[in-house]
Amino acid sequence: MELIQQDSLSLKQIRLYNPLLLSKYLNIRYKVFICEMNRRIIFGEFHFNDLPARHYVLQLNNKVIGTARLIYEDKNIVRIGSRVAILENYRNKGYGGFIVNRLLEIIKDENLASVVSLFSEDNRIDFYKRLGFVAREKIFTFSVPVTYMVINV
Ligand SMILES: CC(C)(COP(=O)(O)OP(=O)(O)OC[C@H]1O[C@@H](n2cnc3c(N)ncnc32)[C@H](O)[C@@H]1OP(=O)(O)O)[C@@H](O)C(=O)NCCC(=O)NCCS
Repeated sequence: MELIQQDSLSLKQIRLYNPLLLSKYLNIRYKVFICEMNRRIIFGEFHFNDLPARHYVLQLNNKVIGTARLIYEDKNIVRIGSRVAILENYRNKGYGGFIVNRLLEIIKDENLASVVSLFSEDNRIDFYKRLGFVAREKIFTFSVPVTYMVINV
């Protein structure tokens, strides 16, 4: 298995003055969360949660290969808004883990929140557990079972 070179990887926050990066970000979300997951409701993917959120892309040697989103819920909790994604051809090389760890570092450095939460689908729970998250409770969103997970930073 190929090992990742961390110095060629960077997680960049998207700014409105960078529409090229924004379009690449939206394209990956479209590919992963609509096409790959076979969801038909495009307007269900892009909605009000996105407006106050911070959006990130993962670049590998200047190629955008992943996405993430942070939602500031209240004073002490930041949610990794279930949009961590890596393009299919780049999976299982540590890039997804890199994104989550980098987000945790960013949150820790800002010192605005001490708890990071997320809702994980069943097949991603172990991925997040390996990164240090603890499963708290299972709930249903639109009849899909998801597990609320947290980590202290
Ligand atoms: C979930 C997702 C982001 C993970 O991305 P990824 O880049 O494959 O993640 P990683 O490579 O860090 O970890 C995946 C696996 O590869 C393994 N791995 C990581 N680096 C490795 C390396 N250098 N060598 C061998 N194996 C490695 C990890 O142990 C991990 O194993 P696990 O799946 O049993 O936990 C990706 O599968 C994805 O985009 N899925 C679709 C969208 C999605 O479901 N997002 C989550 C919403 S809750």
